[in-house]
Amino acid sequence: MTSSIVILTGAGVSAESGISTFRDPDGIWSKVDYREVATPQGFAANPARVHAFYNWRRQNVRSVEPNAAHVALARMEREFRGEFLLVTQNVDSLHERAGSQKLIHMHGQHDRALCAGCGSRNEWHDEMSMRSRCPACQRVGHMRPDVVWFGETPYEMDRIQAALGQCDLFISIGTSGNVYPAAGFVRIARAEGARTVELNLVPSEGAVHFDEADHGPATRVVPAFVEKLLA
Ligand code: APR
Repeated sequence: MTSSIVILTGAGVSAESGISTFRDPDGIWSKVDYREVATPQGFAANPARVHAFYNWRRQNVRSVEPNAAHVALARMEREFRGEFLLVTQNVDSLHERAGSQKLIHMHGQHDRALCAGCGSRNEWHDEMSMRSRCPACQRVGHMRPDVVWFGETPYEMDRIQAALGQCDLFISIGTSGNVYPAAGFVRIARAEGARTVELNLVPSEGAVHFDEADHGPATRVVPAFVEKLLA
């Protein structure tokens, strides 16, 4: 009897909503060098280029909708009678818009801003630039997207580790298993005796660590898995 579930999602869960993944053949990192737009060094070297990248991403997410996989995960949270935590690597807000609440954005969110001057984090839906003013300290020139870049520490790792340590079911959805610490979560859960399941278009880099897998588009394999689990 499953009593505690941790789910990890990646870009693949949003792919069928029309948001590009990172490492698929036509993915974001095949078009943009991640070192220029997703590292502190890239931001220091050319903040305008980084702001343009996230303004573009914020803009093109505005017109997309949650898909059946996001909806199925929100249903699982509502109907599953046990501990539940959804950890996403995604910076879009499609999980929230589908109704997920027990949710951690470990890589931050692109519709939030972080002030490097005072440390405050605020919702941000407009264009952002070095001329943007911090709503808290009112200073200009310190605003950056509240997104965790390569080399930075993901958010809420203590809470995530604690949940992994006591879950009996770990499900990884739509992630290539390339980026740590997220790619290591399956091994932590497995070491604690959890059943591990991968729902992904194709076997990920970490496929060997999963007890079970269902490979196919998230809008098919996720609702099917949720239906079976809740039955
Ligand atoms: N349904 C299910 N899985 C899919 C679909 C789909 N429709 N389309 C693609 N996938 C799978 C791909 O097979 C791949 O394994 O989703 C995965 C996407 O992998 P990545 O593009 O590497 O994205 P992700 O794993 O989320 O990247 C992790 O890397 O660049 C950083 O911070 C960024 O959060 C991101 C992190």
